[in-house]
Amino acid sequence: MSKIGVFDSGLGGLSVLKELMHLMPNEEYYFYEDSIHVPYGEKDDDELFAITSKIVDTLLERDCKIIVIACNTATTACMRRLREAYPNTIFVGTVPAIKVAYDHHYQHTIIFSTPYTTKSRRVQELIHDYHREDQDLYLVSGENLAGLIEENQEKEIHQVLERILSPYKDKADSIVLGCTHYSLIKKEISEVLPNIPLIDGTIGISQEVKRQLERHNLLKKEESPGSLEIVNTKNEELIKRSYEILEKVI
Ligand code: DGL
Repeated sequence: MSKIGVFDSGLGGLSVLKELMHLMPNEEYYFYEDSIHVPYGEKDDDELFAITSKIVDTLLERDCKIIVIACNTATTACMRRLREAYPNTIFVGTVPAIKVAYDHHYQHTIIFSTPYTTKSRRVQELIHDYHREDQDLYLVSGENLAGLIEENQEKEIHQVLERILSPYKDKADSIVLGCTHYSLIKKEISEVLPNIPLIDGTIGISQEVKRQLERHNLLKKEESPGSLEIVNTKNEELIKRSYEILEKVI
């Protein structure tokens, strides 16, 4: 087993992949974009478990030593069941970085996620664990944004952001990007909510992946250059776009 397997419902996971490659440039990466099934955020538990367990099978067949779920929706919906179903596999997931907002003592935080994640039990648990009495948390669903980002629908993205986020303009002092797709539109989010910090968990995730590899003695030893293979379940065009997105600073 030699590769770091990373998956998402589509391009969103690139924000996590980029950080991983930055921290561990010599590793071999296999990135699985499941664009045919986007949006995960509008599916239910059983559908998501069926989809994600097939992906895990594929990543294990492709020689992955660790599986990074670069998707808040898949993590909040399936992580427990996947860990039970694959007890010998090392998983690292992605959850909205509510703890980071808590640690920074923000007072009025938007938690911006997919429809599924917004209603998930896992997010309620995180709020329970990392929430102060005097802190306002606004759970806001990004509706169909992930699909629009996947299709690069710039005008619609702007309209949705304006409608959903502008009511918080004078209230919020921070926003947690609880969907990896939203990390690809930081600039657009900042246009609607200028001057507030955008919090995503990508750095924390990459550090956790490194810790897990070290703990299991699986970090690549030799200094040979790293590699990246991207597959997309929908079309080749999206793979091309993925490389372009990776080129840009996210
Ligand atoms: N990028 C995913 C997330 O972090 C899911 C987007 C979607 O497919 O709805 O939640």
